[in-house]
Amino acid sequence: MKLPIYLYGHPVLRAEAQPVPADYNDLKKLIDDMFETMYAAEGCGLAAPQIGLSLQLVVIDADVLGEDFPECKGRKFALINPEVTVLDGDEVSRSEGCLSLPGLSENVNRVEHIRLKWLDEDMQPHEEEMSGFLARIVQHECDHLKGQVYMDHVSPTRRLLLRTKLRNIVDGKTRCEYKTKTAPRRK
Ligand code: NI
Repeated sequence: MKLPIYLYGHPVLRAEAQPVPADYNDLKKLIDDMFETMYAAEGCGLAAPQIGLSLQLVVIDADVLGEDFPECKGRKFALINPEVTVLDGDEVSRSEGCLSLPGLSENVNRVEHIRLKWLDEDMQPHEEEMSGFLARIVQHECDHLKGQVYMDHVSPTRRLLLRTKLRNIVDGKTRCEYKTKTAPRRK
């Protein structure tokens, strides 16, 4: 089932997500729905807050980027309660977009090497070192679980230039190919 994607400006995107409890009901169905929602919107990652659930759950399918970034080839997974550790502080700037900020993409500085610990959909633990664009996607998605979006990493000057576009997203005036949910009206 496809779910609406919550847009920039919605308070759920600013909340700190809660860990997924071991007995969470219908977790696999939720993960399936998140993949379906992500594919329909042509994204390569989606975090639970983006479908209005303040939970530490992320789906990623980076395979489509495998041509440009070999580390992304065949990488499809769900991350439950993920923990990122930075392994190397050197940052690289690359363009990112986000399904919660339709129509925008901006350069973002991120580290290239991380260690990721997570649980899979069967609640089995995994640990792996990741690099390059795959590490970037993981960091972008895990930011969502901390109530952050990539635009927070963009310089204030650049954000000022984008303020009309950002305002239009908040106000639900941005055209979008997929179903979305905007912030409740401000008084
Ligand atoms: Ni995003």
